[in-house]
Amino acid sequence: MNNNTFVIFGGTGDLTQRKLMPALYNLIKEGSLPKGFAVVSIGRRDLTREAYLDQIQTSIKTFSRYPFEEKIWDELKNLIYYKQMDFTNFAEYEKLKEFLDFVDIKHHTKGNHIYYLAVAPEFFDVIVDNLAKANLNAQNGKFSRVMIEKPFGRNLQSAIYLNQKIIQAFGEENTYRIDHYLGKEMLQNIMVIRFANSLFEPVWNKDYIEQVQITSSETIGIGTRGSYYENAGAIRDMVQSHLLQLLSLIAMERPKDLSPNSVRDEKVKVLQKLKPTSKAEIKKNIVRGQYKSYRSEPNVSTTSTTETFVALKLEVDTPRWKNVPFYIRTGKKLPRKAIEIIIQFKQPEKMLYDNLTSIPNMLIIKVQPQEGVFFVFNAKKPGTKNTIIPVQMDFCQNCDVGINTPEAYERLLLDAFNGDSTLFARWDEVLYSWKFIDAIIESWQDDEVNFPNYEDGTYGPIEANELLAKDGKEWINLED
Ligand SMILES: NC(=O)c1ccc[n+]([C@@H]2O[C@H](COP(=O)([O-])OP(=O)(O)OC[C@H]3O[C@@H](n4cnc5c(N)ncnc54)[C@H](OP(=O)(O)O)[C@@H]3O)[C@@H](O)[C@H]2O)c1
Repeated sequence: MNNNTFVIFGGTGDLTQRKLMPALYNLIKEGSLPKGFAVVSIGRRDLTREAYLDQIQTSIKTFSRYPFEEKIWDELKNLIYYKQMDFTNFAEYEKLKEFLDFVDIKHHTKGNHIYYLAVAPEFFDVIVDNLAKANLNAQNGKFSRVMIEKPFGRNLQSAIYLNQKIIQAFGEENTYRIDHYLGKEMLQNIMVIRFANSLFEPVWNKDYIEQVQITSSETIGIGTRGSYYENAGAIRDMVQSHLLQLLSLIAMERPKDLSPNSVRDEKVKVLQKLKPTSKAEIKKNIVRGQYKSYRSEPNVSTTSTTETFVALKLEVDTPRWKNVPFYIRTGKKLPRKAIEIIIQFKQPEKMLYDNLTSIPNMLIIKVQPQEGVFFVFNAKKPGTKNTIIPVQMDFCQNCDVGINTPEAYERLLLDAFNGDSTLFARWDEVLYSWKFIDAIIESWQDDEVNFPNYEDGTYGPIEANELLAKDGKEWINLED
């Protein structure tokens, strides 16, 4: 049922070379690709099929998690075609249609198509329009799906506009909005930890949890992505999509089952209940920053007010989470590269031991670069005295030799082939996260910023520490 021709718009681009083609190679290696399958890669450059395959071979050698094997490559390369076309020109879609007919028959793909838009966001609607006009969105007895890269719009209004176009052409059930964080192994593990153990879910609430901290930090700056980043900033680039998705997995109620819609129904309820929303509260609870050398990066204005760091104190306004702060921070040019979630539990109310260590129980989920779950609790230090020390239980997934975690894109491609949309953002998730982010961006409009305000290689501006200090808390930096 999942046979298909996978059509990549942006076949010569960075994402295709670094992520999509290596993912397909790894899926072949694991025997997971559908039986009837082919890839049609679309680019503007004038390349022969051989020249294109040479480029792809090099990227697979460089980026695939499995070592290069001639046998696997031979299998993949026979499935890949290169099609040169200008995707803004509708006339060329007729030729594309003929070409897809040929590929469909040759590779027994049953006329099923998955269009992956690995192109700059301003082309998303143009391509969707042209596909619809050329009737390449047809669903009669076959499927036509579309996979859209992020960013899905640059604010609520543009996201609504783009969504209308896509839904008109393909329908929600055939639309796969990529948030590659959701394909990460440890994010999928959050639900398993919560709902497949009797240990955590009963204490997953305001009575037992003191705070939640989420950090997504990078050591690098914006590099060559200046033109894109100047129009985005950390709040659009990271918080609107990845970090709010992550938060909704932590904070959601138990779904009634694991169907895509049940899971997303619960996630969306979290996004609807996020605070702060008023200007005064936003000012009090959200801090932004810019690293010192940002304004001298290529394609960045020397007076830029784009934030490269943001720290937020959020509330999820539900009975489960009353008064539990969710602290989120993300930024570039920070001291460590990491994605980490820390659930800190409250200290026991009545302490039998007066020498209890000050380290509270913590559940730590490391998403990247290390992957694993760590639980910090108190135990007696061996010896004759009753000394208590914090100890740690860990499940370090990628510490075991031989474990080779699949890349997020492998899981996401396979799910789209199989028609499983659980790990893709549904429209209402995108809608409510933009509503929340738009209010923040709007309230920033008239505020003066004192940028740049943090040294390269530090944890953001001093105000980010003050945000937590007001609550008697500190950021937990795991290397400490
Ligand atoms: N790169 C990443 O790691 C990454 C990560 C997350 C999300 N994304 C998202 O993925 C998307 C693609 O990013 P990217 O970095 O791969 O971009 P990119 O390297 O700039 O690639 C753009 C692609 O679009 C093609 N193209 C542009 N105009 C065209 C036209 N008129 N007709 C036909 N082809 C045309 C280019 O073809 P030619 O090269 O032949 O001109 C190229 O294949 C973006 O939405 C980005 O936000 C990327």
